[in-house]
Amino acid sequence: MKSSQGNLIGGLDIGSNSVRMAVGQLLGKENGNLELQILGAAEFSSEGVQKGVVNSIEDVVSSISACLERVERMVGVPIDSVWVGISGLHILSQSSKGVVAVSKANSEITEEDVNRALEAARSIATPLNYEVLHVLPRHYTVDGQTSIKDPTSMTGVRLEVDTQIILGSSSQIKNLTKAVYRAGLDIEDLVLSIIATSEIVVTKRQKELGVMVVNVGGTTTAMAVFEEGELIHTAIIPLGSQNITNDIAMGLQIPPEDIAERVKIEYGDCNPDSTNKRDEVDLFDIGAADHQIVKKKFLSEIVSARVEEILQKVDDELRKIQRSGMLPAGVVFTGAGAKLPGLVGLAKKVLRLPANLGYPLNVVSVTDKVNDLGFATAVGLVKWGSEMQGKAHGQKPGSKKIGDFFGRLKKGLSDLIP
Ligand SMILES: Nc1ncnc2c1ncn2[C@@H]1O[C@H](COP(=O)(O)OP(=O)(O)OP(=O)(O)O)[C@@H](O)[C@H]1O
Ligand SMILES: [Mg+2]
Repeated sequence: MKSSQGNLIGGLDIGSNSVRMAVGQLLGKENGNLELQILGAAEFSSEGVQKGVVNSIEDVVSSISACLERVERMVGVPIDSVWVGISGLHILSQSSKGVVAVSKANSEITEEDVNRALEAARSIATPLNYEVLHVLPRHYTVDGQTSIKDPTSMTGVRLEVDTQIILGSSSQIKNLTKAVYRAGLDIEDLVLSIIATSEIVVTKRQKELGVMVVNVGGTTTAMAVFEEGELIHTAIIPLGSQNITNDIAMGLQIPPEDIAERVKIEYGDCNPDSTNKRDEVDLFDIGAADHQIVKKKFLSEIVSARVEEILQKVDDELRKIQRSGMLPAGVVFTGAGAKLPGLVGLAKKVLRLPANLGYPLNVVSVTDKVNDLGFATAVGLVKWGSEMQGKAHGQKPGSKKIGDFFGRLKKGLSDLIP
């Protein structure tokens, strides 16, 4: 393997509208802390992915390659390995429990006991043709004492862990990894995109209080709910901002690809009530072949109906876990789809929660792209990578991220590695 990348960390987000990459590094600050610095970020329109599912490896490879070339030009060195986001309708999430007997004679719980407990939770019956991507511990129980965050060094005989397990379809994982390898990149690990996104847009404190991150993409809306610092629920809804474009195309009887998309970006908003009844736009002004006058209020109604439906589906997911209207730190939106004006206001109403847009926290950057809502996942992947790197170097003892999916899988996929 080439070693030109040095300490640089790459994040690759393969979306259905855009492939995005960010590259960063950990910098030591004067006070001894480490800070994440983003050195480059680039995007390229994506082909060959729909709803997070790869439908043409060749197309995905060329989108990744083009994006890689752009980001390499920005950072000035070749990038040869990346943390890759994985998402899509094939992702499953379920809770699982692992129980082990503490091994040491003096009953002191060691890191190894914790790992065995996590391993036991991992070994739930995985559905056929699915792989475990993450085993995320929620809390531990030692001899019946519940809600323990970190049981190492405690004394006990029986150690239990409650986890959230994230699974992905084996064939989708293979297709995605194959595309990344063919683009000439090695994979550090696969990370559920919405978890990586959450790393960068909400604080530990918000995760403690209870918060949800919602990423509005082109064809999917992904959400992750955190409480007491841990992930408690995640879901991927098969609706995104492209559905709004399609609705506009149908409502105004115009082609979806260019004109309807432009109408959405230029004039789309979710506030029909605040739109003046008489306000109009002429589609000719944004490139339509003919003059067509459209009432902005009508457009707002089309847009907000679809956004409301998406938000309602998000709320349905919260209902499943009894958290509808019940997250003190509210909801944080990311994804390029979240740029739609009025989304936050409508979300406050539908979800009955505080709502905000999610920009990267505690990151310095040489490029403005980090403040683009569409880049949250790519930057979050770099952050995730930096934390795993820190962990590998022993800087974060007790960090409970289990990012060992790829180590396991690599053996099985060795035939794909160039
Ligand atoms: N300024 C804007 N206002 C409204 N919508 C926008 C704006 N910019 C981009 N979008 C919409 O955002 C969507 C793309 O979002 P994003 O780039 O986050 O998706 P993706 O990550 O490629 O897809 P997915 O996550 O579903 O796989 C498109 O439907 C696009 O129309
Ligand atoms: Mg996305």
